[in-house]
Amino acid sequence: MSQHSEGIAPHGGHLINRIATPAQKQEFLEQGESLPRVQLTPRSLSDLILIAIGGFSPLAGFMEQQDYDPVVTDMRLANGLPWSIPIVLPVSEEVAEPLKEGGWVRLDDPSGRFVGVLELTQKYRYNKALEASSVYRTEDVKHPGVKVLYDQGHINLAGPVWLLQRDPHPLFPKYQIDPADSRSLFVSKGWKTIVAFQTRNPIHRAHEYIQKCALETVDGLFLHPLVGATKADDIPADVRMRCYEIMLEKYFPQDRVIMAINPSAMRYAGPREAIFHALLRKNYGCTHFIVGRDHAGVGSYYGTYDAQHIFNEFEPSELGITPMKFEHAFFCTVTQGMATSKTSPSNPEQRIHLSGTKVREMLRSGQLPPPEFSRPEVAAELARAMRVPVESY
Ligand code: ADX
Repeated sequence: MSQHSEGIAPHGGHLINRIATPAQKQEFLEQGESLPRVQLTPRSLSDLILIAIGGFSPLAGFMEQQDYDPVVTDMRLANGLPWSIPIVLPVSEEVAEPLKEGGWVRLDDPSGRFVGVLELTQKYRYNKALEASSVYRTEDVKHPGVKVLYDQGHINLAGPVWLLQRDPHPLFPKYQIDPADSRSLFVSKGWKTIVAFQTRNPIHRAHEYIQKCALETVDGLFLHPLVGATKADDIPADVRMRCYEIMLEKYFPQDRVIMAINPSAMRYAGPREAIFHALLRKNYGCTHFIVGRDHAGVGSYYGTYDAQHIFNEFEPSELGITPMKFEHAFFCTVTQGMATSKTSPSNPEQRIHLSGTKVREMLRSGQLPPPEFSRPEVAAELARAMRVPVESY
């Protein structure tokens, strides 16, 4: 693993920065009215931002077909670097038709504001069924990632991008920490080994347990909740962030944890997304990445540990970030603590474990998760946010 004064090397060797300088921005803004426009979806906007801030290094734009094809079939970019999820700008045929390869395209955010530019090097048709079966391992449109894929346009626009405007996050400005910033923070704290935690659910005790097990062996924990687009029935990001704030205040050593938002959209691609999540965190400067049970999974499309096994398909040196794999954690009623089957003498009936899905169902039906599953302060916050009557707590 190559380390230098700024910590672990970004994927591909250097951190991409596609944020326009003030002079470039001025120039593009002046040309804006005369450029053809494409309106971004929330997902494409978050992809644009992640490319610009270096989260998706070495990508400097939306993928051309020579990268897209091997990413879909072999989890590699054209230059051989591991990459498991297509980062593309899909549009309809009507939108694509008048756009000329070799020209510039103005990128507007979902509200119509001019936020970026694309140097259109290529537009190409792609095979949705192949992408679904390769990336998501299913063509079932009930899968939320496959549904987005089948609903989107048939033509990918590709080429380098520049980000012109970016506001502080409306809800979490103080947690908007870009890869260059997290890297400096780690250096300033003297952390050499940093474990990242991806999440899209409210924190529960199994999360806390695996985070703390990991923290026993590294210098710092980078809590990186995803706040980009999620499926409609996931708990909203503001509620999840409040739960984290409560936990950090009371249950974590504050000098060993940094929390930041991950602006990315959730794909629910299970194993493929675990690799993608790890590479993203490598770009943020993390040396280790937690992969627990059914990471980034949904429904029963993936095996419990598929997202761990997929790391064996790569040489550790080509990923450059070390997965920390955890078995399914639960509350053990025999030892009265959190454990996994590796550490607990219990039989299955003596274990309390609830899935994120189960908790969402409980909250919707007016019940609160028990203290063996959620810290009481988190359960109370979820109850407040989901408007569960207090008596039921
Ligand atoms: S995810 O879609 O972001 O993976 P979630 O926020 O629930 O969903 O999970 C965050 C991380 O915690 C993932 O690595 C996941 O595998 C892990 N995880 C969640 N619940 C458990 C559990 N009970 N035991 C072990 N790992 C878990």
